[in-house]
Amino acid sequence: MIGISKKGSKKEREEWGSRKGFILATVGSAVGLGNVWRFPTVVAENGGGAFVLVYLAMVFLVGIPIMIAELTLGRSGGSNVVRVFRKLAPGSGWWLAGLFPAAASFFILAIYSVVAGWVLVYIFSSLAGLTSGLDAGELSALFSSITGSAAYPLLGQAVFLFITAAIVVVGVRKGIERWGKILMPGIILLLLVFFVRTMFFEGVWSGIVWFLKPDFSAFTYSTALEAVGQVFFSFSLGMGAIMTYGSYLPRESNIPGNSLSISIADVGVALLTGLIVIPSLFVFGLSPETGPGLIFITLPAIFNSIPFGMLWSTVFFLLLAFAALTSAVSLIQVQVAYLTEELGWSKFFAALITALGIYLISIPTALSQGALAGIALAGLNIFDFIDFFASNLLLPLGGLLAVIFTGWVWGVRKAVTEMKTAGNDFKLQGVWSVLVRFLVPLAVAYILISGLVS
Ligand code: PHE
Repeated sequence: MIGISKKGSKKEREEWGSRKGFILATVGSAVGLGNVWRFPTVVAENGGGAFVLVYLAMVFLVGIPIMIAELTLGRSGGSNVVRVFRKLAPGSGWWLAGLFPAAASFFILAIYSVVAGWVLVYIFSSLAGLTSGLDAGELSALFSSITGSAAYPLLGQAVFLFITAAIVVVGVRKGIERWGKILMPGIILLLLVFFVRTMFFEGVWSGIVWFLKPDFSAFTYSTALEAVGQVFFSFSLGMGAIMTYGSYLPRESNIPGNSLSISIADVGVALLTGLIVIPSLFVFGLSPETGPGLIFITLPAIFNSIPFGMLWSTVFFLLLAFAALTSAVSLIQVQVAYLTEELGWSKFFAALITALGIYLISIPTALSQGALAGIALAGLNIFDFIDFFASNLLLPLGGLLAVIFTGWVWGVRKAVTEMKTAGNDFKLQGVWSVLVRFLVPLAVAYILISGLVS
């Protein structure tokens, strides 16, 4: 049942149909390309085990406390990001802190829709048998030729953004909740099969050791910043996405408990993917510096070693595209909620304009592996630059603002009261309060500054 909110917003807002519906949808937002595509790529580029360990530490120190803060802010404000800040700190300039993530989610989508576009192209390439029988070297060449062309990436991205916008227009509940229920178990099941297959490759062990054994000799502040950025990206934090989802949460729901379940699911999928992709780097003799093509090379190589590889490949990329879709929906939802509630636009118009805007600004990103590959910004190509700027700078900044607001402006006491409204207990409220007021902002600010200057 869709309940009706009485939280004072002028328009009646939908709420999640059930606790399970909310969890599945939020897991749908969190689990996506961040886990399956970005996680193994950054682990490989940052030296393996030590990065994984710092990432896990950041999950507990920063990720879970901020997720709790964002969900609580969202539910208490009961509206889009800008209005959450305006409502909880009326008359102050804090509403600007909400404008920031609303605008910044554009940049994340500029990366996200490009990679999702590649995934769409890979569904059809697999189906057409183009990846069948190729070894890792040939798969690497295939990836370069697909992403280096202009037509495929631009078309894939357009289709992806169109579907994302269409789902948002259909509605929060119908659009998102239903997908999560079928998809998440499907993708996890497939990953488990691939994991088992990977474990039987010769030479897999050195890859597992590289993934799990920390070697701190190569560790720097920029690695720590990459780990923090990855947590924000993967948990959908600092972008208003989780906050907007929190605003559809009914009062009875237990925010800390839900945050923990969502985080465990998200980290679980990332680690599982890492345990497949990283060892296969070693098995297939690839360089850890393979970059954004990593999973598009290693995974099809694994599929080719299983009977009916073409089928596995098609189904896997199909499921990955859906996982990317549920994440992108939560991203675009941030802007649509803002445009419909603040500017009074219709949902259809808001989704259309947002998707078009994202498409236009991300054309250079889509072409960055081919026609525009020569353009460098701060030593990075356009794709890597936007990814770095959005994930390692904008997201931590957005998270920092949300957590400072919760800890010092709105106040942890009000936040805890909000969490306990319907008789829910929060055993770790003392720990959480200290984290949110002191440790999280200090850690994020410190890593952000030292990572940028190092
Ligand atoms: N968390 C999503 C993923 O891992 C991406 C995302 C980032 C979604 C930020 C919403 C907001 O794929």
